[in-house]
Amino acid sequence: MRPPGEILIGEREIRDRVASIARELSDALQADLRREGHGVDVPGRVIFIPVLSGAIVFFADLIRQLPVTMSTEMVSVSSYRGATTASLGVSVVGALPDDLAGKHIVIVDDILDTGRTLGLLKKEIGAQKPASLRICVLLRKERDRDVPVEADITGFDIPDVFIVGYGLDYDGHYRNLRDIRLLEEAGDA
Ligand code: XMP
Repeated sequence: MRPPGEILIGEREIRDRVASIARELSDALQADLRREGHGVDVPGRVIFIPVLSGAIVFFADLIRQLPVTMSTEMVSVSSYRGATTASLGVSVVGALPDDLAGKHIVIVDDILDTGRTLGLLKKEIGAQKPASLRICVLLRKERDRDVPVEADITGFDIPDVFIVGYGLDYDGHYRNLRDIRLLEEAGDA
């Protein structure tokens, strides 16, 4: 089992950044709703969609700081090995919510890495013609993407290293760490 190593982003830094992301999102959504003649308490207009399971901790902290009436839908995406060039190498597990047309959608994910997950979700959800579609990620790896996709809101840019904590796991472990840590190489500990 590879243990967690050095802290890359500490608990306090995460907390401060999540608070500023919440303000940024809140301002953007309020502006959208105002343009439609609504207040922030209108039901049924805003839907937040976390990508399971890595986004759960970020999502829980983020939405509790948003003074906007929203509903939530979960999505899960699995990646498969040995993917052919004909596929993105990822697929949605189960059914996507199918009532997103005309709504303000925010997809929340832990990390933008190859871009396969968010590329797929952006395409599938965008096809339903929502009124707005934003991608919000806590982390963005500095690397070339297999699928070109941009996040509208990014918490932190990080180098291309494997990290754990604050929802991110290694083999199911370490999601409960309060900070984001590098994963030690096998044999380092
Ligand atoms: P992409 O952008 O490659 O991201 O489709 C898919 C999912 O891969 C996971 N991921 C990681 N998980 N440490 C982790 O614990 C990492 O460094 C890492 N990089 C990618 C993550 O769940 C992401 O949503």
